[in-house]
Amino acid sequence: MNWCLFFVVALGLDLAMAGSTYDYYRLPTALLPKKYNLRILTHLENPEDLKFSGVAQIKLEALQNTRNITLHSKSLLIDDSKITLTQVNGEKKDNCISSTEVNAVHDFYILNACQELEAGNIYQLTLPFEAELNKQLQGYYRSSYQIPETNETKWISITQFEPASARLAFPCFDEPGFKAPFVITLGFHKKFTGLSNMPVREIRPHETLPDYVWSEFEESVPMSTYLVAYSVNDFSHKPSTLPNGALFRTWARPNAIDQCDFAAEFGPKVLQYYEEFFGIKFPLPKVDQVAVPDFAAGAMENWGLVTYRETTLLYSAEYSSLANQQQLANVVAHELAHQWFGNLVTMKWWTDLWLNEGFATYVANLGVEHIHPEWRAKERESLNDLLTTFRRDALESSHPISRPIQMVVEISESFDEISYEKGSSVLRMMHLFLGEESFRSGIKSYLQTFAYKNAEQDNLWESLTQAAHKNGALPENYDIKSIMDSWTLQTGYPVINVTRDESGKVAKISQERFLLNRDIPHDQRKGCWWLPLSYTTQEEHDFNNTLPKAWMECSKSGESLSKTIEDLPGADQWVIFNPQLATLYKVNYDAQNWKLLIETLTKGDFESIHVLNRAQLVDDILYFAWTGSQDYEIALSLIGYLQREREFLPWKAAFDNLKLVGRIVRQTPHFDLFKSYMNKLITPIFEHLDGINDTFSSIEQQDQILLKTMVANWACQYEVLDCIPKALAYFQSWKSSPNPDETNPIPTNVRRTVYCSTVRHGSDEDWEFLWTRYKKSNVASEKRTILSSLGCTREVWLLQRYLELSFDPKEVIRKQDSTLGFQAVASSEVGFLLAKKYFIENVDQIHKFYHPLVKSIGRLLSPLSEQVIERKDLEEFKEFINHSGESLSGINQTIQQTLEIMLTNVQWKERNYDQFSRSIELVL
Ligand code: BES
Ligand code: ZN
Repeated sequence: MNWCLFFVVALGLDLAMAGSTYDYYRLPTALLPKKYNLRILTHLENPEDLKFSGVAQIKLEALQNTRNITLHSKSLLIDDSKITLTQVNGEKKDNCISSTEVNAVHDFYILNACQELEAGNIYQLTLPFEAELNKQLQGYYRSSYQIPETNETKWISITQFEPASARLAFPCFDEPGFKAPFVITLGFHKKFTGLSNMPVREIRPHETLPDYVWSEFEESVPMSTYLVAYSVNDFSHKPSTLPNGALFRTWARPNAIDQCDFAAEFGPKVLQYYEEFFGIKFPLPKVDQVAVPDFAAGAMENWGLVTYRETTLLYSAEYSSLANQQQLANVVAHELAHQWFGNLVTMKWWTDLWLNEGFATYVANLGVEHIHPEWRAKERESLNDLLTTFRRDALESSHPISRPIQMVVEISESFDEISYEKGSSVLRMMHLFLGEESFRSGIKSYLQTFAYKNAEQDNLWESLTQAAHKNGALPENYDIKSIMDSWTLQTGYPVINVTRDESGKVAKISQERFLLNRDIPHDQRKGCWWLPLSYTTQEEHDFNNTLPKAWMECSKSGESLSKTIEDLPGADQWVIFNPQLATLYKVNYDAQNWKLLIETLTKGDFESIHVLNRAQLVDDILYFAWTGSQDYEIALSLIGYLQREREFLPWKAAFDNLKLVGRIVRQTPHFDLFKSYMNKLITPIFEHLDGINDTFSSIEQQDQILLKTMVANWACQYEVLDCIPKALAYFQSWKSSPNPDETNPIPTNVRRTVYCSTVRHGSDEDWEFLWTRYKKSNVASEKRTILSSLGCTREVWLLQRYLELSFDPKEVIRKQDSTLGFQAVASSEVGFLLAKKYFIENVDQIHKFYHPLVKSIGRLLSPLSEQVIERKDLEEFKEFINHSGESLSGINQTIQQTLEIMLTNVQWKERNYDQFSRSIELVL
C-alpha cells in the first residue's frame, strides 16, 4: 500500500517538492471541477478516536490537454493506490494515476495521470481519504458541550472552511473561483442529526455498520468550496414561522434551545428584507443557523447552513444586555447578507475580499435598521465603521482595501478593519453620493449579472456607473472606477484643509493623507482621493442633503487639483463640510471657523448641528490635537460642550479618543488632573441618566439605554458620584441571594460595569464568587461578560492566576475565549505589566496553543500596544519581536501596526503631555 502521508507537512517539504516544477501559488487552470460527490463517514462515539473518512468523486472538464491534476489537500491521509480516474463522456475509458506528489508550501496534491487528459473531455476522479476530527477549529473539527446534570461530555462535528480549510476536510479545488454543485452524503450513528447546505433528500441504513445511516442531501447550486458545510450533532432546533419564505431553523445544544427565539424570529425577517432589497429570491430551499460551542470566528455564512458562536446567536432576556441583542441581530444580518454578497456572487480572488466583507457589513446595517428602526442602529454602526477606519487607516502600516494575496496567512490577515469597516464606509459613501435609486439598481444589476459566478471590483464599478449615468446621478464625464480606485487601491484617507478668506465667502480647499505618525513630513503625505464635496452653513444647517455640491478631483497622474468654493456666507457664520460624515475624510478649518463652531456647541443651539457631525467635530479636533495640528486648549474647549450633550454618538467619539489619552496619562503623575477633568465632563450626563439606577424599563428611546450603559462604565472607572458604592451594593445583593445561579438582581445593561467595579474594589472572595458563576452559567454572553470582568482586579496573584487559566490546556475557558481573558488582564493598569511579561516569556507556548489560528495571537497585542508610552519600552518590544522567530510569524501586519501605535503613544507622551496637562488645569 502506498500511503501518501500528507500530514507530515513540516517534514515533507523537500521530499514533497522533489520532481514538482509547478510552484505558483494558484491552481493551474487546465481542469475545471464540474461537480463534487462527497461522502463523509463521521465517528463520534469514542472520545479518544474522533475521526472521519470519506470519498470525493470529482467530475472534471479538461480545458487543455494535461497529464497533471493539481488539487488542494492538507492533513488528509490519502491512499493513492485507491484513486481512480475515468473518462466519462463519449466512450468511457479508464485512465489511471501513475504517481502523486505533494507541494506543502501551497497545500497542493499533484496527481500524474497515466494518459493525457484531453481538452473537451469530462473525467471522473475518485479519491478516498481520512483524518482525525481536529481540535483546531478549522476544517472538519470537533466541538463539545456538557450536560449539567451528569457532567457528561457530548461531542459534535462541524466545519469551518473559509478561507482555505476545505482542503483539510476533502481534496478539492480550494479557490473561490472554482464553483461547482455539491452532492453531499453524511454517514453517522442514527442517534445524531446530520446537517449540510441543502435539505435531506434521503436517509438509508449504512451497508455494514450497525445503527449507522447515510443521509444524502440534495444537489446544491454551484458554489465555492469555502462555503461548503456539514455537521453531525445531537442539537435541538427551533423552527421559524414566516409564510412563503425558505424553511428556517435555529439549532443549539438542547440546554440552550430556549435562547434561540430571538434569532429564529429575526433571521427570516432580514432574509425577506434582502430578497426585496436586492430583487433576487434566496435560491436555496432552507436555512439552518447553528450555535457552535467552539468556534474561532464570530460567525460564518456557509450557504444554507450558517454557523455562529453561541454569543452571536443565542439571546436570553434574563441575561443578555441590549448591546448583546443588537450585536446578535447585526451578526445574523451580516451572515445573511453574505448569502447574496459572497455566496451568490463571489470575489474572483481574495484580493477583493472586501466585496464580501465590506458589503455584508454595510448591508447588515440597512437590514437591522429596517427591522428595528427604534434601535437607530444604522447611524450608530455607520459611525462605528467610520471611527474604526479613521483609527486603523491613519497608520502608515495600513494597506489598501484591495491588496495582492499569495499565501494563506495573507488571506487570513485580510479579514481586518480595512476589508470590513473601511469597505463598509466606502460603500456607504457611494450610497450617499449616488442616491438611493442609482445605488440600488446598480448593485441589483451587479448581483444579477454575476449570480453563480465570480466578480472583481471593476465589475461592480461598471454596474454602478451605468446605473448612475442612467439616473443622472453622476456627470457623464465621470465614472465610478476613477473615483473609487482612489479609495480602494490607495492606502489611507485624506484630511482636507478649509481656509476661508477674510470675507468668509471664498474657501480654498486642499487635501493630503492623514497620518498619526508626526515624524512623517508633509511632502510624504501626498495622495489624492476623489471627494464628493458637500457642506452646509450656520444659517442653512441642512444636514440632510448629502449629494455632492462639487467634486474635488484628481489628475490622471493622481495629483490633487486645487479647489475653491464660492458663495459661502460671511465670516461670522460657520460652515461644516461633510454632512452626516457621508465621505471618509477629516476636516480642519481655519481658527475663525473653529471659534464659531465652539461657540455654537458650547453656548448656542448645538442641536442644529447634525448628531453625526457633532461626533465628527469631537473626533476630528481630538485627532488634530493628538497630532499637534491643533492646541489641546481648543480641543478641550470644544469637547467641553459635552456637558450639554445627551446623545450617544458624540459621546462615543469622545470616549474612543479619551480612552487612548487616559491609558497614557494614568501612568503619569498628573493622572489626578485627568481624573478630575473626566469627573467634571461625565457628571452631568451621569446625573441626567440617573446614575446606574435601574431605570431601563422606563427609557423610551432605545439608544439612551446604550448611552447609559456606556456612561455607567466610564463613571465607575473614574469614580464619579455614587457609581462605585451603587455597583458594590448591586453585587452584594446578588451574592446574598439564595440561588445566585438562578436569580441575578443586577440590571443586565450594567452588569459588566458592576462586575468589573466589584472585582476592582472588592475582595478576593468576590472574584471567586464570580469565577464560580462563570463555571456554572449556561448563557454564553453572560460567561463572556464575566470573563472580561475578572481581569479588573488589582491583585497581582489573581491576575497571574487568571492569565494562566486563560491558556490552560484543560480549557475551563474555551480556546475561543482565551483572548478575552488575556485582553481583560492586559488592559488594566496593574495587569498590563503582568500580561506583557507573560506574553514575552511564554510566546512559544502561546504560539503552540493557538496554532494554526495565528490571528488570535494578534488579538493579544492590541491592549499591549495601547499602554507602551516610553521609547525604551518600545525599543525593548521591537527587540523582543526581532528575536521571537517563528512564534510571531503570520501576523506581520498586526505587528507593524502594534509598533506604530506604540510609536504614536511615545510621541504623544514626549510632545503633548505637558501641553495637555496645562490645558486640563485651565479648564478645571
Ligand atoms: N466570513 C466571515 C467569517 C470568517 C472570518 C471566516 C474570518 C474566516 C476568517 C463572516 O462573515 C464574518 O465576517 N464574521 C465576523 C462577524 C461579523 C458579524 C462581523 C467575525 O467572525 O468576526
Ligand atoms: Zn462576513
